[in-house]
Amino acid sequence: MGEFEVPAGVDPYTPSVARMYDYYLGGKDNFAADREAAEKIIELLPNVREIARENREFLIRAVTYLCEQGVRQFLDVGAGLPTQRNVHQVAQDLAPESRVVYVDNDPIVMTHARALLAENARVIAVAADMRDTQALLDRAEIHEHLDFSEPVAVLLLGVLHFIPDDDEALKIVTALRAPLVPGSHLAVSHGSIDTVDKDRDRKGQQIFSRTSVPGTTSRNPAQLAAFLDGLEIADPGIVSLSEWRPEINLALPTPGGVGAIGAVARVI
Ligand SMILES: C[S@@+](CC[C@H](N)C(=O)[O-])C[C@H]1O[C@@H](n2cnc3c(N)ncnc32)[C@H](O)[C@@H]1O
Repeated sequence: MGEFEVPAGVDPYTPSVARMYDYYLGGKDNFAADREAAEKIIELLPNVREIARENREFLIRAVTYLCEQGVRQFLDVGAGLPTQRNVHQVAQDLAPESRVVYVDNDPIVMTHARALLAENARVIAVAADMRDTQALLDRAEIHEHLDFSEPVAVLLLGVLHFIPDDDEALKIVTALRAPLVPGSHLAVSHGSIDTVDKDRDRKGQQIFSRTSVPGTTSRNPAQLAAFLDGLEIADPGIVSLSEWRPEINLALPTPGGVGAIGAVARVI
């Protein structure tokens, strides 16, 4: 058990990738089972904490860039537990009218997001599984909050690697892109390990098979490009996260770690 009360609907004994990610980032919203699974992943992938930090920094730069492009609506799928500088804070600091929908299928994310967002009328949290993409897109509260006749940025940050099947991942992305009008954007970040060691991968899958997700997979830039096919990929293209527009926020350290790639692309 963890150090805080277990919210209703939350299973503290099954490791949750949302809480494991919180642990990598140094957060406190995690239980013993999460920390144990996360430590096993750290043994297999020692720079996983650095990857998590780089991913959050990529999120900040990508949302900043999207605001600069005039985007004021964000659909953040696989939003994760609130941490420092969440999407709505980055966007609303630059453009206070920005509207954000956080989507996640983990009950703990919903509990925390709803508490945090209770006083921010421009942000809502929706519990949904992106694998049932049509049901997600049909949710009335999303359409009450976002106007799909105007540009929307769909964020898929650190989440598609939890859909190991390539066809299923492409189906999800294609469905999420379908309602987007020109000027909308898709931002993606994804685990990407140069050489996947088979033994390490098997051990990793064993750990993930006992968590809140079915498994995990690494994808290379060409595989990520398939998700962005037909979109206009912003410079510098599909690159290692720390290489994506580091000039947007020079105040943040760019450790240059490897292990994840990302891109932002525009609907034309
Ligand atoms: C590693 S965290 C990433 C959080 C945040 N997007 C970021 O980049 O910092 C992945 C999140 O995706 C969520 N997730 C995993 N599979 C999902 C699914 N099928 N539908 C919705 N959310 C999912 C997890 O619960 C977790 O909160």
